[in-house]
Amino acid sequence: MYNVRQIAEDTYYIGVTDNRIHLFENIHPLPEGVTYNSYVILDEKTAVMDSVDWNFARQYFENIDHVLNGRELDYVVINHLEPDHASSLGEIMLRYPNATVVMSEKGANFARNFGFDVDSHNLLTVKEGDTLSLGKHTLTFLEAPMVHWPEVIVTLDLHTGVLYSADAFGTFGKLDGRLFDDEVDFEGEFLDHARRYFTNIVGKYGKPTMNLLAKAGPLLDKIKMFAPLHGPVWRTNLQYYIDKHVKWASYEPEEEGVLIVYGSMYGNTEEVAYLMANELAKRGVTKMKMYDASKTHHSYIIADAFKYSHMLVASVTYNLTLYPPVKTLLEDMHMLNLQNRKVALVENGSWSPQSGKVMTEMFGKMKNMEILNGEYTHFTSSLNEEKLVEIMNLVDVIAKSLGK
Ligand SMILES: Cc1cc2nc3c(=O)[nH]c(=O)nc-3n(C[C@H](O)[C@H](O)[C@H](O)COP(=O)(O)O)c2cc1C
Ligand SMILES: [Fe+2]
Ligand SMILES: [Fe+2]
Repeated sequence: MYNVRQIAEDTYYIGVTDNRIHLFENIHPLPEGVTYNSYVILDEKTAVMDSVDWNFARQYFENIDHVLNGRELDYVVINHLEPDHASSLGEIMLRYPNATVVMSEKGANFARNFGFDVDSHNLLTVKEGDTLSLGKHTLTFLEAPMVHWPEVIVTLDLHTGVLYSADAFGTFGKLDGRLFDDEVDFEGEFLDHARRYFTNIVGKYGKPTMNLLAKAGPLLDKIKMFAPLHGPVWRTNLQYYIDKHVKWASYEPEEEGVLIVYGSMYGNTEEVAYLMANELAKRGVTKMKMYDASKTHHSYIIADAFKYSHMLVASVTYNLTLYPPVKTLLEDMHMLNLQNRKVALVENGSWSPQSGKVMTEMFGKMKNMEILNGEYTHFTSSLNEEKLVEIMNLVDVIAKSLGK
């Protein structure tokens, strides 16, 4: 049965909800589910904007059929070829053989490589500034390379002001029947999901994201809505969401506070992390979040690394290198281009400690990561009175750096 909703004049949401997915991109846990959004515009010509994951094709085509109500489909605009959206394109082409496929030149190449025979179909490749008239509605296209794939475009309907923004302004999380930003408690329900989505999926591409925002800037008075490919449609507080993206994309912290991460096998390093957290709280540093790198998937820790200004990482040495869960996390930070943070490091090792050196090297490869106190603080196996003094000194340095 169909599940659709009008979002603007002649414009309908036809997305689907994935509440069964376990891992997004087969990496990131998704207990909160996700939506794959798609839209239809009914004008003199009809157009579908993007598609959905193939697993949801049945619901999706029921939605399209319901909205088209017997009309032909004239265009399918594919802003982004990633298969969570584009994998139903083959079925669209089968069901609507007369529809023209609209995508960027790069998108067409991607489509061919993913096995969609766009060349034996009507194909219209578009570039920056091109327009396509559906009647009252004129679509204009902006290129958004590397947000977060190279072929991405976004489409603005100049009549309704809806910006079909591809994965930009998307978020994890299902909507439970609601659709618009003003129908959900965004800060309460979605902000953490949105941060985890952006930082892990698009985070590496801060610069391309900032380029897109700069390009969209002069059009802002024309943009009335963000219609992304995941999560709520934005119709009220667009600037709030833009500001969040500017922070994330420019690697500026949202809050002065500290992310504490530890790697520990037998609890001694964990104890030190708790001691330091406790001492920080006593000094008034209460904006903090602590994770056991072995327990929590790195995508959650990455999101808080983007959120907070400071980081404390305490890790054991493991087989002459850094403990693998912590190593993976730091590699991820590097891959995602995280920068501009203040970092405190604690090393543990029982016979040939290496974790401090490896962490220092890894943070050294990232941009503008300041090692607090100049170097890591070491202890051997478990904390003793002598090393306690050094650990307390490091706590003071962190607190002072946070103005406490
Ligand atoms: C499998 C294994 C490998 C380890 N490899 C090293 C090592 O190469 N060098 C070292 O100094 N300590 C090594 N350690 C000791 C740990 O770094 C750490 O000092 C010890 O596990 C106590 O800390 P914890 O209670 O936080 O786990 C190793 C421990 C284990 C269990
Ligand atoms: Fe994507
Ligand atoms: Fe996506």
